[in-house]
Amino acid sequence: MSKDTLSIRDNRTEKEYEIPIWEDTIRAMDLRQIKVKDGDFGMMSYDPAFLNTANTKSTVTLVDGGNGILQYRGYPIADLAENASFLEVAYLILFGELPKAGELAKWEAEIKTQMALPEALPNIMKAFPKDAHPMGAFVSNTAALGTLYPDAREVLDEELRWKHIKNLVAKSASLGAYFYRHSQGLGFVDPDEKLSYAGNFLRMMFHEGGGDYTPDPAVERAINILFILHADHEQNCGTTTMRTIGSSQADPYSAAAGAAAALYGPLHGGANEAVLRMLAEIEDVSNIPAFMDSVRSGDKRLMGFGHRVYKNYDPRAKIIKKVAEDVFKVTGRNPLLDIALELEQIALSEDYFIERKLYPNVDFYSGIIYQALGIPVSMFTVMFAIPRMVGWLAQWTEMLGDNEQKIARPRQVFLGPVDKKFVPIEER
Ligand code: SDX
Repeated sequence: MSKDTLSIRDNRTEKEYEIPIWEDTIRAMDLRQIKVKDGDFGMMSYDPAFLNTANTKSTVTLVDGGNGILQYRGYPIADLAENASFLEVAYLILFGELPKAGELAKWEAEIKTQMALPEALPNIMKAFPKDAHPMGAFVSNTAALGTLYPDAREVLDEELRWKHIKNLVAKSASLGAYFYRHSQGLGFVDPDEKLSYAGNFLRMMFHEGGGDYTPDPAVERAINILFILHADHEQNCGTTTMRTIGSSQADPYSAAAGAAAALYGPLHGGANEAVLRMLAEIEDVSNIPAFMDSVRSGDKRLMGFGHRVYKNYDPRAKIIKKVAEDVFKVTGRNPLLDIALELEQIALSEDYFIERKLYPNVDFYSGIIYQALGIPVSMFTVMFAIPRMVGWLAQWTEMLGDNEQKIARPRQVFLGPVDKKFVPIEER
């Protein structure tokens, strides 16, 4: 076996370099020694949108795109979705191992006793128009929540860091549910420590007030699974934003607000909302051929399809498809599922999609379930953000503990003009 190095020959200078290989990567900084003249800055790598750049090492989540594999801390997603509670998986993602019974009980108590929002937040929420987009509200209210905790800025204090990690995990579901109540002109419903995290979310969303609330077991199980499936996904756009903002040592509430803002985009978590609007626009399976023509021509995108990493079926989409059937037994079948299934069937058999390795992703079927549960389309990305708070926080604290990390500050290839002479306006 030859040495773990890359031999690079710079034909401009005929110099040769031996660059060490680590985990099948080379360090971009090792390229800086490659210069034409001694005073040169040295070579960089150029990688728009980080298509082939790892900017961190991590032990949180494995996404093997070629084989459609997703594992949290080494545990396959299907096993976790089938057997664990969301808070159990949140513990796993944040602490690195499944909790023992006593650890889980303590963790659940810590989270469920912190789910209610401080009084300032509902008052802030009431300032939003009722038709304000819930994701814009989630971004704003996450940052607003942070303004109530000045010690959240002590990000290097481990005890304070975990205090606010727990607070954000606890209040993430409440930020979404309370705003939903405001948008519907309904009063706020506080959580009940007797319920699960998913059960409390449903209570805060749909309880008609007064007395106990008992969620439908099948619906509670579905939300629990959907939250688990959305909890983390390694270095996606939103998580990279969390890490980038966190690298300047901003507080976790501000970083999470930024991560949620990235998730809001239709190419990312906003896709689940875009899928429902697409299915509604298609309206009937008879309109699918014309719609697919507009996709093949590049005029439209098949939202909920494709992925930067998965070049195989997103394992989460497979699980969500099964959850949909369980939910429809309670809510009645969402007719849009027929359009979605037909779209999938066509896409998986058509060269345009096969050549581009476009498969359904996590966002393709989730919205059909949320709609069947009576959750408005504008709330769909909030349903993504709520559990993803766990992944953002796990990745953020991993970044802060990584002694190789520092403030994120990429370079550029400058191609613009230099040394231009200022021209007074009357002479321009
Ligand atoms: C999420 O990163 C993560 O892990 C994200 C996520 C997570 O858990 O955090 O998994 C969640 O964001 C899932 C993705 C949700 N987004 C969508 O469903 C929106 C629709 N999908 C696409 O816009 C697209 O597939 C992306 C954004 C998901 C990935 O885009 P890439 O990797 O940048 O690929 P690309 O845009 O360069 O497309 C490559 C080719 C192009 O065709 P050509 O120019 O080569 O002819 O594939 C085509 C694209 O036009 N293409 C699509 C398509 N997605 C890509 N064509 C039609 N419909 C699509 N959905």
